[in-house]
Amino acid sequence: MKQDEGPEKPAGLSREHLEEHYRLYPAAHQVKIKEIEARLLRTDTACVDTTYCPLRSLKKEYAYALNSVRLHDYYLGNIGEAGSKPSPEMLSMLERDFGSRQEWEKQFIALATCSRGWIVLGFDLKEGVLRNFFSDDHSEGVWSVLPLLVLDVYEHAYYSVFPSRSDYIETFFKYLYWEIVNRRLTVAREVFKKISSINF
Ligand SMILES: [Fe+2]
Repeated sequence: MKQDEGPEKPAGLSREHLEEHYRLYPAAHQVKIKEIEARLLRTDTACVDTTYCPLRSLKKEYAYALNSVRLHDYYLGNIGEAGSKPSPEMLSMLERDFGSRQEWEKQFIALATCSRGWIVLGFDLKEGVLRNFFSDDHSEGVWSVLPLLVLDVYEHAYYSVFPSRSDYIETFFKYLYWEIVNRRLTVAREVFKKISSINF
């Protein structure tokens, strides 16, 4: 690389590609969230049914849109320049909860290959452990889990700029912004300490 080219940028994960991704998905879903919130205020709460009713549908799609915004926020936040590394605290937890960093990565990549939507390395606030989760749409997940590292494997995230999903996953790991992931872990552990001392 020439000196005047500046810091190395993620090949295929350019600013333009990520901005377009943001515009078409989380930004569009934020508009829908406002629309659904307005409709919820006018929805008939007397006419409800477990098979179908407007209230059910609105709340279901509200969770879908809100989770999309949240997950994209974590995902776009943990992409950066190449070269950052997991902290000693992170490495120690990956070793404790998965056997080793390599074993965690192996499972995470396998999940990224079979998921239709998301992969999340999460911190379980009930048990104080790390776990990998995946979600075929924005609405699957486990409550009381804080996302630390999030990967979007919907086709819209990569098909226009990568020859395959495996190329995309490889590039994602190269440009994974461990510094923010490390900070999320530190904060999650502080929250865990506080809430585990009370019957939360
Ligand atoms: Fe996406």
